[in-house]
Amino acid sequence: MTEDFSDSRRKFLGYAIAGIGGAVALGYAVPLVQYLVEPAMEPQQEQWSLVCGVQDIPAEEPKSFTFYSNLTIAWETKRVQRDVWVVKKQDNSYTVFSPVCPHLGCAYNWNNQKRLFICPCHGSVYTITGKVVAGPAPRPLDTLPAKVENGNLYVKYEKFRLGIPEKVLA
Ligand code: FES
Repeated sequence: MTEDFSDSRRKFLGYAIAGIGGAVALGYAVPLVQYLVEPAMEPQQEQWSLVCGVQDIPAEEPKSFTFYSNLTIAWETKRVQRDVWVVKKQDNSYTVFSPVCPHLGCAYNWNNQKRLFICPCHGSVYTITGKVVAGPAPRPLDTLPAKVENGNLYVKYEKFRLGIPEKVLA
């Protein structure tokens, strides 16, 4: 009888210790999983990148520039090549367009004779301000955050969802 009681007590203590150990392990596991998973769920982020000196931007027509940007995905940062279209406005400010046609993602070009941006894929046509004038594009060209510092143009490259009327980060 005494032995049975001791056995049950031992078993009970064993379960209790295992339960407490499990709870402690879970207490560590949840923040660890959050630490590992949450960064991977966040949108990709790029830092401000030097595109060009403002003296390299012509006044008469949009110009395409290629530059390198630091892209951070979860815990990893890598250097990626990017393109943008830059338009110098009459007030000497700048509009920077994503090079991606918001219809389905093709690269469009500037036609200086027609003074229009034209996408070769499905014929979307945009004015120099990015407004859609023809074709299936559901929204104007996407502008990117830009700033001028010490005579240089900096851009924060972003990607947007394609084929929808709203400009939403991808
Ligand atoms: Fe440009 Fe379709 S991707 S018009």
